[in-house]
Amino acid sequence: MLVIIEILCGLIIFLLYYYFTATFNFWKKRNIPGPQPALFFGTMKNIILGRTILAKYLKSIYDAYEDAPFVGIFNMREPILLIKDPEHIKNVLIKDSALFSSRGLPVYSKAEPWNNFLFFADGPMAHVIRTRMSTIFTPSKIKEIYHTMLESLERLDIYLEESLPRNDHMINCSELGARLTADIIGNNLMGINMTTLTTENFEKNDFIRYSNMTRGTNWSIIVKVIMQKTFPRLYNQIGYYFFNHEEVNNFYVNFLLEIMEYRKKHGIIKPDVVGLLMEIKENPGKLSEITGSDVSNEFLASYIFGFFYAGYETAASTICNTLYELAFHPNIQDKLRKEILDTYAKNNGQLLYDHINTMPYLNAVFKETLRKYPPADSVQREVSTSYTFKNTDINVPKKQKVIISIHALHHDSKLYPNPDIYDPDRFIDEMSHPRDPMHYLPFGHGPRNCIGERLGILQSKVGLIGILRNYKIDVCEKTVTSYGYVSHRFVTAPSTDIFIKMTKAN
Ligand code: HEM
Repeated sequence: MLVIIEILCGLIIFLLYYYFTATFNFWKKRNIPGPQPALFFGTMKNIILGRTILAKYLKSIYDAYEDAPFVGIFNMREPILLIKDPEHIKNVLIKDSALFSSRGLPVYSKAEPWNNFLFFADGPMAHVIRTRMSTIFTPSKIKEIYHTMLESLERLDIYLEESLPRNDHMINCSELGARLTADIIGNNLMGINMTTLTTENFEKNDFIRYSNMTRGTNWSIIVKVIMQKTFPRLYNQIGYYFFNHEEVNNFYVNFLLEIMEYRKKHGIIKPDVVGLLMEIKENPGKLSEITGSDVSNEFLASYIFGFFYAGYETAASTICNTLYELAFHPNIQDKLRKEILDTYAKNNGQLLYDHINTMPYLNAVFKETLRKYPPADSVQREVSTSYTFKNTDINVPKKQKVIISIHALHHDSKLYPNPDIYDPDRFIDEMSHPRDPMHYLPFGHGPRNCIGERLGILQSKVGLIGILRNYKIDVCEKTVTSYGYVSHRFVTAPSTDIFIKMTKAN
């Protein structure tokens, strides 16, 4: 009996070993360099165990294989291709984008109903939903939104007037950015006042609280990742109840149903996310053909969560990182404030939408922040057929995932000398020193690039103008001299609170 048990155990261990290592010669066979994979973890042990974040890991790989156009890595047993060369990046994101139209992200639509959001969608579904969503983000719609943004700035002024003296003029700029951008997104995309600039306790705001809850705690993230990798179907079945996702989902669904009901009752028609979701519910068109059923409330509610999260967290971290750098660089700050005040003065004390684009230094500051601190550290695509990279004999099979590290490109010292130094002038003489567009990718590129790019740019710039016009930023005793990062799902954020001093500028 014991012998049989021993043989069975041996067999199971052998099969497991085989299962976890069978793919490990995938990149060697294709002559693509890369780190040696380890049993179970592949090459990403430190990420799976939560010891580092993807941005840092990919940068270390990018740097270690200096002249290689591609590096082969393994997420556990799954081969992933890191693409470094700009021509190949362009082929994937733009020229052959029809073959790379998916991100290939795992979708746990039961366990994590917010996975129904566009970001996770593939193939025809992504195309159909993106086409409908893009109507909210056209240049003319963004221009219309501008006036409501100015109202958010008025609330910001009152908030700062009241809260700064109470806190010795020291303010947590991560929270400040989040309060402002949540207010802007809430008003403009959902048509509701988020109250993030009027309530004292920011963390208790329902939208912020539930958005944070979808991340989970440090331990639950590790357990989730391991479950998703090893038993994805089981995770999809039980994850909803096991990780408290039911409560989160109910919040978004109830929010959507209530606001749709309210608008219907009062005959309110608005061209925002809620308005569009109401239209989709009434007339799903091709969407119900693709899903084969009615569009569910969970599906629609995922767009409330998705747009709120994608819109507020990215711009909040951009505003915060800019303020942090300006606190350490008074010369840059003075130059930027002068440009802002001059623009107001030239336009009789007003700042209209079109004036924002007449501020080259603001643009350079904004771009340099996104260079040094790209909120999304990488972009990923999955190929829909077997694919040979142009002018190479490197062939990858259907469903191969490829990844491009925005963070590593933006910190490559050959492309950006002294990459850790914050220097907006890099973007001033762009015309005379054109840079390969594939070396600057804060919003991704091609047909699956950031759909909210225009809104993200506008709200970050408007936020900075509103703050710098009236306030001077300094370091204070609570300001950290450097900080690490955490990865909040797809957004890289500072790992610590960032405090700065804000006093009235004369
Ligand atoms: C500074 C602000 C922002 C940055 C840096 C940023 C960055 C990005 C990046 C890098 C991607 C992936 C692109 C790719 O794969 O090629 C992305 C996708 C996306 N972003 Fe943004 N984003 C910002 C603001 C916004 C805003 C304001 C919204 C909307 C309210 C938004 C909604 C989305 C959506 C829906 C996608 C997925 C698009 C698709 O799958 O087709 N983002 N963003």
